[in-house]
Amino acid sequence: MARKISPLETARLDYRSARPHMFERGIGAVSVTHGRETSSRADEPAIRAAFPDLFGAPRIHFAAGEQAGSSRPLKVGVVLSGGQAPGGHNVIAGLHDALVGGHPDSRVIGFLAGPRGIFDSNYRELSPAEIDAHRNTGGFDLIGSGRDKIETPDQLAACRETCAGLALDGLVVIGGDDSNTNAAVLAQYFATHSQPTVVVGAPKTIDGDLKGGGIEASFGFDTATKLYSELIGNVERDARSAGKYWHFIKLMGRSASHVTLECALATRPNIALIGEEIRAQGWTLAELTDHIAGIVRDRAAAGRSYGVCLVPEGLIEFLPEIGSLIEEINRLLAKDVEVSALAERLTPQNAAVFSALPRRIREQLLLDRDSHGNVQVSRIDTEALLIETVRRRLAPGAASGEFDGKFQTQHHFFGYEGRCAAPSNFDANYTTALGQVAAILIEHGKTGYLCHVGNLAAAAAEWTAGGLPLTALMRMETRKGHPTAVIAKALVDLEDAPFAEFAAQRDGWKTEDAYVYPGPIQYFGPPEITERTTVTLQLEGGNK
Ligand code: FBP
Repeated sequence: MARKISPLETARLDYRSARPHMFERGIGAVSVTHGRETSSRADEPAIRAAFPDLFGAPRIHFAAGEQAGSSRPLKVGVVLSGGQAPGGHNVIAGLHDALVGGHPDSRVIGFLAGPRGIFDSNYRELSPAEIDAHRNTGGFDLIGSGRDKIETPDQLAACRETCAGLALDGLVVIGGDDSNTNAAVLAQYFATHSQPTVVVGAPKTIDGDLKGGGIEASFGFDTATKLYSELIGNVERDARSAGKYWHFIKLMGRSASHVTLECALATRPNIALIGEEIRAQGWTLAELTDHIAGIVRDRAAAGRSYGVCLVPEGLIEFLPEIGSLIEEINRLLAKDVEVSALAERLTPQNAAVFSALPRRIREQLLLDRDSHGNVQVSRIDTEALLIETVRRRLAPGAASGEFDGKFQTQHHFFGYEGRCAAPSNFDANYTTALGQVAAILIEHGKTGYLCHVGNLAAAAAEWTAGGLPLTALMRMETRKGHPTAVIAKALVDLEDAPFAEFAAQRDGWKTEDAYVYPGPIQYFGPPEITERTTVTLQLEGGNK
């Protein structure tokens, strides 16, 4: 039975993305110039040794040029990697349009269920009709996604075999920091083994932590944070209307607190915790609890026994005593220590922290790591942990003194709700442009690049485009106990404008109600609503 399509979905199928001016005459009319040679983010000798054929590549800039068109049809594979982010389908649509615009016989092959689709040779050709049916839709359901890492020699060889068998001219890896690290590994492997498939990446993740080094924003962040901000604004209004609950809202974003920071700037909650700041201050769980309990107490004294507290999901790793516990657990897991034996192997200090945590949190800390060795923070109820510790601190007889107000709570987790929303106009335009950039890089044989679209705070027509060498974004980090070349995850920079703005404003949000209600994402209507970018991007002015 054909799927029923909602009226909004139907209307969005006809939305045509705004484009950077250099794409106006078609991507065949784009000229490519090279900037200066690049280095790596850090650890130059190690990155050079790991990527001898990619290291040092220049930045690439596109400009409007003479109409040339492609002399031959191109066959390009595409894979969606990691967590869903609004706009993934548009990258594929933009890629397809650009390739077919260059030569009508060009084809797009979709690898199914993530990177595994490449090494398991699980793919299908995407028809223009099905690509059309997915334009401007959220989700990754056109071809699915997965978190498999391409790392073993057998997997790398199998990827090469698949790409050679299909005679792929290019492969587009749509993913976050880890997936684009994978793209660089694959590009180097292909270069070493004379496999001509060009590998390029596209910056995806709602977490917003793939930025810096020229990347202004990852796609999906705009839509996801707007959706969460709508929900937070609604909860704020409910809290104020009923006057009886404190809402603790955990927000996705893995380690980095960009999502929480953006949502705080958009909605002005009473409390927003920024993991990076808490780490910089070295606050323990007990100190953080005191801080929150103090605000609850002050609001109660002002007759407001309600409030909203935003909690980034990565917060738990930034509390020093829990961070050190997680590190030790990770080290032990990397040595294949059985989960049942972990608690006994901890140092006395970490063991004491572990045993003081509620049982549910202890169990959650021991859950499987993801394929990149990361703790799965979305499965840890940090918001419930904070409610519990604050409740204990405010309880009668607690050392902090008498509290005669009410502390009734609700807890929420906003994460998955935002990852598959229909992309905002910003994300729809951005991702279409990224797909077009991928096609141009492949056409020009530029392997080992991240598709780049810049000047994002301006109108789409003013955007710049080109390629960033993946190795320029890399440095060495310890992963699963070994030094590994990776694309550095960008955490919230406490010196940057978004945090500075938040720090300057937040005292005024604690006791008074300064709530802002952003409302739902608008896809049609006045441009001041439909084209509004994130506060983060406005404050950074696109200069990452
Ligand atoms: P990516 O880094 O792959 O974009 O994933 C983002 C994310 O949504 C995080 O915010 C979250 O912690 C994680 O994925 C959840 O992973 P899973 O989908 O495997 O539960």
